[in-house]
Amino acid sequence: MIGLFDRVARPLLRVLDPEDAHALTVKALKFAPRRRAPLDDPRLAVRAFGLNFPNPVGMAAGFDKNAEVADPLLRLGFGFVEIGTVTPKPQAGNARPRLFRLDADEAIINRLGFNSEGADAVLHRLAARVDAGGIVGVNAGANRDSTDRVADYVRLIETFAPVASYFTLNVSSPNTPMLRELQQRDALDELLARVVEARDRISRTAGATPVLLKIAPDVSLSELDDIVGAARKRRIDGMIVGNTTTGRPPDLRERAKAIEQGGLSGRPLFRLSTRMLAEAYVRTEDAFPLIGVGGIASGAAAIAKIKAGATLLQLYSGLVFRGVGLIGQIKADLVSVLRRGPAHALDELIGTDAAAMTAEPWPV
Ligand SMILES: Cc1cc2nc3c(=O)[nH]c(=O)nc-3n(C[C@H](O)[C@H](O)[C@H](O)COP(=O)(O)O)c2cc1C
Repeated sequence: MIGLFDRVARPLLRVLDPEDAHALTVKALKFAPRRRAPLDDPRLAVRAFGLNFPNPVGMAAGFDKNAEVADPLLRLGFGFVEIGTVTPKPQAGNARPRLFRLDADEAIINRLGFNSEGADAVLHRLAARVDAGGIVGVNAGANRDSTDRVADYVRLIETFAPVASYFTLNVSSPNTPMLRELQQRDALDELLARVVEARDRISRTAGATPVLLKIAPDVSLSELDDIVGAARKRRIDGMIVGNTTTGRPPDLRERAKAIEQGGLSGRPLFRLSTRMLAEAYVRTEDAFPLIGVGGIASGAAAIAKIKAGATLLQLYSGLVFRGVGLIGQIKADLVSVLRRGPAHALDELIGTDAAAMTAEPWPV
């Protein structure tokens, strides 16, 4: 099935408008024949935030914003799926066109702006599949017109606690004006204090649900000091590094599309996001695990993320350009690294390159 999809459907999808192609892919997944998820090599199992992941390769947020295809994605072989970003109220997002494929760069620019069916619709879908198992995280965001953005995150946590394996606080989308300001020290501290209060209050009745913070790869190192400091002080369960970048690496080939506003993802994001991951890793001092995301398009890139400090991985753009076969390829490459040694388990590799990476000149 996977081979067939990659050979036949993907070339067709590439001639469509990117947003139409995405909608069609979601529909195809919805109606794909049900098959069991491939069994993972036990060496790929990861325990993090109190959860047992069958493998470390996750579907990043933004592909399944409305929780329509969490189970089909798990059946493709992902170790976990992050749905969302979900906003409390439904909202349409920005005007189309708002999604651009930079084929020659294997990159995407998006300025979707949190198009979301809203919490009620998404909750309904997640509640219907909650007994299916598998790790499904909920990525939470504030409504664009919200007057109290912190209250939006708290409300989403209260709403989704019974059905979410974990939460991600998305304070790093570049497409909602002023959202990224929530990464600044005082605003972040207030957000985390109120969210952690909600997490702990709910855990007394609904069980513990870990809360992760997803940051931008564009923060300065002194901002990163503050972010990691606040996350440690407030006892956040983990961090995702990171979201799309508003930067445009000078070597992008698709110059005409590169000027589109929005967040850039895919291969040109790999260097910056991996450096930021290493910088986050050396600052966390094992206080909590990190999810590495940004530009993973091969097994080698996945291994580099782990060595930079990632306990878990997520990808999105790589799937668009390399196909769903990429998931199995990454897992096979991880197993082969462990088979060859000297590491026998993935956790022996986490962060082994972080110190050396942070000593290198800043990537441009
Ligand atoms: C079309 C598109 C939509 C996205 N939407 C979201 C989103 O709603 N919430 C979020 O936290 N990240 C979103 N992302 C960011 C991804 O989750 C990921 O952090 C980023 O794309 C870097 O990974 P990649 O290079 O593997 O794509 C989106 C990315 C793309 C390409």
